[in-house]
Amino acid sequence: MTAARRLAIRGDLLEVVDDPGFGAVDTPAVRFDADAWLLIEDGRIAGRSRADPGDGWQRIDHRGRLVMPGFVDTHVHMPQLDVIASYGTELLDWLNTYTFPAEMRYADPAVSRAGAERFVAALLAHGTTAAVVFPTVHAVSADALFDAAAARGMRLITGKVLMDRHAPDGLTDDVAGAERDCADGIARWHGRGRLAYALTVRFAATSTREQLAMAGALLAAHPGVYLQTHVAENRAEVAWIAGLFPEARSYLDVYRRHGLLGERSVLAHGVWLDDADRALLAATGAQIAHSPTSNLFLGSGLIGWAALDAAGAAVTLASDVGGGTSLAMQRTMAAAYQIQALQGVRLTAWKALYAATRGAARALRLDDEIGSLEAGRVADLAVWDWAVGPVATHRDALARSLHERVFAWMTLADERNLVATYVAGVPQHLRSG
Ligand code: GUN
Ligand code: ZN
Repeated sequence: MTAARRLAIRGDLLEVVDDPGFGAVDTPAVRFDADAWLLIEDGRIAGRSRADPGDGWQRIDHRGRLVMPGFVDTHVHMPQLDVIASYGTELLDWLNTYTFPAEMRYADPAVSRAGAERFVAALLAHGTTAAVVFPTVHAVSADALFDAAAARGMRLITGKVLMDRHAPDGLTDDVAGAERDCADGIARWHGRGRLAYALTVRFAATSTREQLAMAGALLAAHPGVYLQTHVAENRAEVAWIAGLFPEARSYLDVYRRHGLLGERSVLAHGVWLDDADRALLAATGAQIAHSPTSNLFLGSGLIGWAALDAAGAAVTLASDVGGGTSLAMQRTMAAAYQIQALQGVRLTAWKALYAATRGAARALRLDDEIGSLEAGRVADLAVWDWAVGPVATHRDALARSLHERVFAWMTLADERNLVATYVAGVPQHLRSG
């Protein structure tokens, strides 16, 4: 599929351009143009028009459908499509029982290639156009993911997983070999097209101090490179880390001590943090990739999003498949709402959408490229049905305000609502039938 030089998409254009905060249903942060044309030139958004732009444009009529920026999934594991929906364990047992055995297979380049292509296709089939992704410890799995994303023109951030202890043979590296692989990966992939390299420390339990320090040194030496890891997800995990790093004030402090916290650091979970941790996140510009379906499925806990917000720490939304149970960011947003509801906090559709689009773009320092329908951004977008099936259709018809309508959509929709996904103005997923 190739790009039309001038493409116009008609539909209900929706985006959240700023952080609306908690609880504000009426907010200037929402930009909604019912039945308008989104204009795209050479893969970038050129503007919008109420009127038909005319014959000089390839026009696609999605009248009565929702057109939004593509979702940004800030934390997801490529090989874990193999273990999504695995029964009966919390984090540490889940890793040993399901995840580590599954990840071993990705040493095989053919498994990595097929897995990466399946995974990238699945992201696009869920309206997700940008992602921060864990492959496996094998350099070949990161290469396969970069290749698959490049073939689609996608904005993708990944890098081989670092683990040099507390994991099975076949799933560990060593400091010198990992350093070589990361330096080589940065040289080959970082900044190539829309790809960026992330130093990928699995979590503090599976890296020695020497490996954490090596990752910190590479991060310092390569401005623009990302860091991704997990932090404070599960109580047993937090206790284990405290035993492994008695010198650290907290789990998050382990990463600070090794130079791993900065404005391109993406830390999954952050369920069990305290005030000092939240202040540290705000001071360093590191973000929490909140993974609500995973936190519920693995019984990890209920994140204090409002406290993170109050401290000035960035919170974005993530599927965390396969701990998470769906790549659909609507399911992710709906679970995030429920987690806040259990704590007496109301998550508006606007706040949730912001965290899954423009808020994520900002936290990743990619706001000039993704997360928005504003002129100049790359045309990464998704077209959705407002409702699928009789229950959602009935509910949609009864909505009395835009927020009510979008909230019902966020709560009831999933990938079955997806009509088309565009990456840089090129259709990369079209619903069949
Ligand atoms: N902590 C370390 N590895 C993982 C993982 O693969 N998934 C989740 N949810 N947490 C982790
Ligand atoms: Zn994860």
